[in-house]
Amino acid sequence: LENGLARTPPMGWMTWQRFRCVTDCKNFPDECISEKLIRDMADRMAEDGYLEAGYEYIIVDDCWLAMKRDENKRLQPDPERFPSGIRALADYVHSKGLKFGIYEDYGTLTCGGYPGSIDHLELDAQTFAEWTVDYLKLDGCYADIKLMDDGYPLMGHYLNKTNRQIVYSCSWPAYQEGTIQPNYTKIAEYCNLWRNYDDIDDHFGSLNDIIQWFASKQDNLSLVHGPGAWNDPDMLLIGNYGLSDGQSKAQMAIWSIMAAPLIMSNDLRTIKKWHSNILLNKNLISINQDRLGLMGKRILEINYIQIWSKTLVNDIVAFVFYNPLPYGTPRYISVPLKQLGLDKKDAYNFYETFSGDLIGKFNRTDFINIKVDPSGSVFACWAEPTKLASEPKTKST
Ligand code: GLA
Repeated sequence: LENGLARTPPMGWMTWQRFRCVTDCKNFPDECISEKLIRDMADRMAEDGYLEAGYEYIIVDDCWLAMKRDENKRLQPDPERFPSGIRALADYVHSKGLKFGIYEDYGTLTCGGYPGSIDHLELDAQTFAEWTVDYLKLDGCYADIKLMDDGYPLMGHYLNKTNRQIVYSCSWPAYQEGTIQPNYTKIAEYCNLWRNYDDIDDHFGSLNDIIQWFASKQDNLSLVHGPGAWNDPDMLLIGNYGLSDGQSKAQMAIWSIMAAPLIMSNDLRTIKKWHSNILLNKNLISINQDRLGLMGKRILEINYIQIWSKTLVNDIVAFVFYNPLPYGTPRYISVPLKQLGLDKKDAYNFYETFSGDLIGKFNRTDFINIKVDPSGSVFACWAEPTKLASEPKTKST
């Protein structure tokens, strides 16, 4: 969607994966979907380096609404959990330098059973703009998937009419996939990002299933992927219960190489340092946010290691070597640079991505040896064109 927004993949934090639909604030005051939770996370994002690293949007997912609209048919938040109202909450978020996002649903009800938008699209767009919302996730539960090709663009039209700059996240293809072929050209024209596939859950099986699904569809999906229009494989699980260190790094590396939105869903109040270090890694974030916005692809499989690559600005190429298998020992592969597509320049410097350390300088006829740990681990690196290793470093002219 060419509305000037999301020129690089959106980065932020969202309630759903970690906090779901907890509404019992009496027994779970720190976990329930409430203004307190959003304020707490806004504080952490602003003070603990996330905003500085680029995580900008804080998004309230489902279960923020009251069960009924007000007497003027306007949406209203649950009065117990959001006593100050959404406008005041957005003001608080903005006061921290962050942007504020909210969830609704195109159908009659949200997936959690709260009032949907279908009969009030224009009014809801106006309400969101009045509340100074900067990002709308519009889900697709309780809706006719055949109406979505017109309905989602119509909501986009109403959002545009408010004259407020609102990132528009659609779920339209996620509901159509498997039944009718989504029209991705049209989706990219009307949405800044869109969920394509199943919800992510807090375990490696779910993560790997999503990775394999996107790899299998990459040729089609990458055609429309780029500035203003992003395929969305769903939230980052990093910082929660289910992923190992290697699997956490794998999600960050593959989301970065895919140029996927980086939307965390975790508890930033209690997150461990080894998790936040992955989320805040500058090299991975800059690969993700590269301004070309290309969707990296799985280009090869050697000895069960899946190799992903993505071209960045200045002919730099990022790689992820991903080992999804649980067979206890690391795998070693030796890959000719040519097979990685690195035969256009004389030589390349390789850097390990998580540390930024130089691995070495390789001529284009060389092989590079890679070791990848088991159970969903990755080896991530990037290659920068340089002069032949045999040439003197400085040449007199
Ligand atoms: C759907 C979406 C999730 C989340 C829930 C909320 O399942 O895909 O991301 O928004 O609804 O109910």
